[in-house]
Amino acid sequence: GHSEDSLTRIRNIEMIELGRHRIQPWYFSPYPQQLTVLPCIYICEFCLKCVSSQTCLQRHMSKCLLKHPPGNEIYRSHPLSFFEIDGRKNKAYAQNLCLLAKLFLDHKTLYYDTDPFLFYVLAERDERGFHIVGYFSKEKESADEYNVACILVLPPYQKMGYGRLLIEFSYELSKIERKTGSPEKPLSDLGLLSYRSFWSQTIIEKLISFKEESLQLGEEKQISVNDLSEITSIRKEDHLNLYKYYRGQHVIVITDELKDAYRRMLSKCRTRIDPSKLRWTPKD
Ligand code: ACO
Ligand code: ZN
Repeated sequence: GHSEDSLTRIRNIEMIELGRHRIQPWYFSPYPQQLTVLPCIYICEFCLKCVSSQTCLQRHMSKCLLKHPPGNEIYRSHPLSFFEIDGRKNKAYAQNLCLLAKLFLDHKTLYYDTDPFLFYVLAERDERGFHIVGYFSKEKESADEYNVACILVLPPYQKMGYGRLLIEFSYELSKIERKTGSPEKPLSDLGLLSYRSFWSQTIIEKLISFKEESLQLGEEKQISVNDLSEITSIRKEDHLNLYKYYRGQHVIVITDELKDAYRRMLSKCRTRIDPSKLRWTPKD
């Protein structure tokens, strides 16, 4: 969640150890006061519990039975899986996840009440277990039809395409719900970059396949902005700026932004979501 008057307090945690990573936090997060004086805090990479020393972590790991995030595994495309976690049923995990995420999210209010949220955790599997890469949260019921509240890729995994994968996943859920969705505002700079890139790439990909179809049929077909929203679940406002308004109609001009987005997409052979591997139905 976001709020204008959120505490943009000074960074209070020096370093975290999470699995095989040591990560320097970016922002303040309300961890217990006694942890803020330490040079490093230790987080169990499976249940996300936080302790004050390596010894405590080892003791914890010998008792901790988790080898993956709690909740249901709703997507698997080896080595990546998505787990859906209910903030009411797995409160401790959800709160620990929010605390961890706050270290990298500015202008966010931390919800101690995780009940209204679902958490979608992306994890990478190896012989030791499923290691958290990132996540997004989603309100169970959103008045503004947001399909993402907070989204994060942990720093060691950033700029490798996982953010795009999380965003793509959030829109696949919206497609199943037969709704359009949009991320909660305001977006961070990195959030905006990632979303704009995803929106352009997705729209231009649809336009190109539409064009090819109509060429094959040998007829000049038209596609509306509404059609594009329905097919992609991307809300109209989020792709309207890609078109130019011409004589009462939106005419899609292939702008340099679209061309660049498409070129970048083709040049990076990135992992995509395979919708046939998604096992999920919306709850009501
Ligand atoms: N500089 C320039 N471009 C970037 C950067 C960067 N640092 N990071 C990502 N991008 C661009 C990429 O080039 C890519 O675009 P392209 O395909 O057109 O080249 C696009 O953004 C997505 O890149 P990914 O590698 O998929 O993004 P990443 O895995 O790094 O995740 C995320 C993006 C989630 C925003 C990550 O940076 C992050 O967790 N940041 C900290 C938390 C945050 O700001 N979250 C969003 C808050 S808003 C909200 O929660 C609704
Ligand atoms: Zn644990």
